[in-house]
Amino acid sequence: MSTKAYIPQLYGRSKGHSLRANHQRLMAELLPRVATPDPADGPIDLAALFPEANDFALEVGFGGGEHLAFQAARAPATGFIGAEPFLNGVAKLLQHIEKEGLSNVRIHHGDARPLMEALPQGRFSRIFVLHPDPWPKKRHYKRRMISPWFFKEAARLLKSGGTLRVASDIPDYVRWTLMHAQGAPDFEWTAARAADWKERPADWPETRYEAKAVREGRPPCYLEFRRV
Ligand SMILES: C[S@@+](CC[C@H](N)C(=O)[O-])C[C@H]1O[C@@H](n2cnc3c(N)ncnc32)[C@H](O)[C@@H]1O
Repeated sequence: MSTKAYIPQLYGRSKGHSLRANHQRLMAELLPRVATPDPADGPIDLAALFPEANDFALEVGFGGGEHLAFQAARAPATGFIGAEPFLNGVAKLLQHIEKEGLSNVRIHHGDARPLMEALPQGRFSRIFVLHPDPWPKKRHYKRRMISPWFFKEAARLLKSGGTLRVASDIPDYVRWTLMHAQGAPDFEWTAARAADWKERPADWPETRYEAKAVREGRPPCYLEFRRV
């Protein structure tokens, strides 16, 4: 699949406030030990990355890493890859890895899309995209992570029966996601009743971003699609 199928520079910012000393240490010392190989160097070998894992999961845009760390702690035999261009987010996930002693997490500090293209077919059980940047202006829709390209690539990575979870607190982005899911023949929406998309499943912790959305009166929708 061509990397030209998406618009580069999807994310608005990659740096926030400058890093605290502890975060600087983690970036210098821990990141090199848990970083994925550069996708520009070719296909990524999951067995080399996670010699002990028997299953794999991917989180696109993990923000502060709370959700990824939670999932990784619950499934120690699963290799989790997180992609996040935002420096401060990467530092926060490194802090979780160190504090919680997580040995099953690898980080791609950058755009998730070249990473996805370098990962092997049909090996992942779960893909998460929680609260992707909404890009509300019409002229920026092409920068949205959820796209025909994304559904195709997620279908390539997931095993049959694997799941793609997408959350958003922006009604227009929820509609957008459902519209693209309808055009993706490899996926079916698992919701059978309203509670299935209105209520956060028990194995889905609330992130700081989500708590803020709830406080500000934007209840999120929780969408799950199964790879058929
Ligand atoms: C609104 S935040 C949500 C963060 C987190 N998923 C949560 O729910 O708390 C969106 C995140 O997506 C990340 N992001 C934006 N473009 C991305 C890309 N091309 N690849 C990976 N992550 C990206 C941003 O840096 C940001 O951390």
